[in-house]
Parts: sequence; structure tokens; C-alpha cells
Amino acid sequence: MAVREIIRMGHPTLRKVARQLRQEDIGTKEIRNLVEDMVDTLRAAGGIGLAAPQINESVQLAIIQIPKLGSRYGVLEELPLTVFVNPEISVVANAESAGNWEGCLSVPGLRGWVERPQHINLRYQDLEGVRHISEFTGFHATVCQHEFDHLTGHLFVDRMTDMTKLVFEDLLVPEDVYHD
Ligand code: NI
Repeated sequence: MAVREIIRMGHPTLRKVARQLRQEDIGTKEIRNLVEDMVDTLRAAGGIGLAAPQINESVQLAIIQIPKLGSRYGVLEELPLTVFVNPEISVVANAESAGNWEGCLSVPGLRGWVERPQHINLRYQDLEGVRHISEFTGFHATVCQHEFDHLTGHLFVDRMTDMTKLVFEDLLVPEDVYHD
């Protein structure tokens, strides 16, 4: 398929609530082609997650693929390529929070320290329209929250509580950086 342009902070699509995909839309060629474009675009960018609004498609669709080794993010807990349609997060009561230096392909060059709950339940559909309920903890919970924030018009900078921790990534060399 095709590597698409990733739009950057300031583009109005990144601030919209994306539309839910209807059951009859999910298996269509159009949506499958869009997912293929998202995979191509994510791999070309070297990221670990991409939401459809980042390529200017305002629909509730995101992909995540976390390699275990060999990425520029250090050693991470692997997550095979997963397509999330219409995802809905609920944070588990009393979940502890942890911070990461998050980055975003739509906010190139910057990193920000963001604390997020580390235990979530997730409802979503796959590309066949089948409904799933999953539980994510730790870094995977962080990545899900970052990606699915894109589907409601939010960016990681909105989740920061200390703006002194918004920095250029070439000035930061931590082990635990996360770049979508
Ligand atoms: Ni992002």
C-alpha cells in the first residue's frame, strides 16, 4: 500500500473526536487498505503505535506494535501488531500511576514526562468486527492510553502536569523513552 503523511500538532484533525466505525464498515476493503497504510506508515517512521487521525483519517482506529528488542526504545515488553477498532478504556480502580518520557510522531522532536495509570481494561473490536475485552498493565497500558487519546482529539502534551518537563529529545537520553 502506501506510506502516508503524518500530520503534526496544529492540524485540526488531531483535535477532533474521531467517528466510530459501524459494524458494516469494519471489514470493508477501504478500512483494510487504511490499516495497511497505517502499518506501512508506522514502520517507515520507526514508531510503536499510530492512530488513524495522525494520517488525517478521523475514524476510531489505531495500531500498536512493540518489538522486544532491536528498536531505538531499548528493551520493551513485546506486543505483536494489534489493530484496535472503537477502543474504550476503563481505568482499574486504585491503579498506580507511572511516568514515561512520551513522544509522538505528530509532535516531532519533543518529549514530555507524562504520568498515567498502569492498569486498564480495554474493550475494542478487531478487523473482523469481533469484540474483545483485554487487560493491559505497565508500559502497554501507557501506550494504549497515548494512542487512544488521539481518537478523542488529545495529545500527550494535554496530559502533562509539569511543563518544565517538555524538552527537545536530543537533550534527553533516558532509557525509558516512549515514542509512538
Ligand atoms: Ni502520538
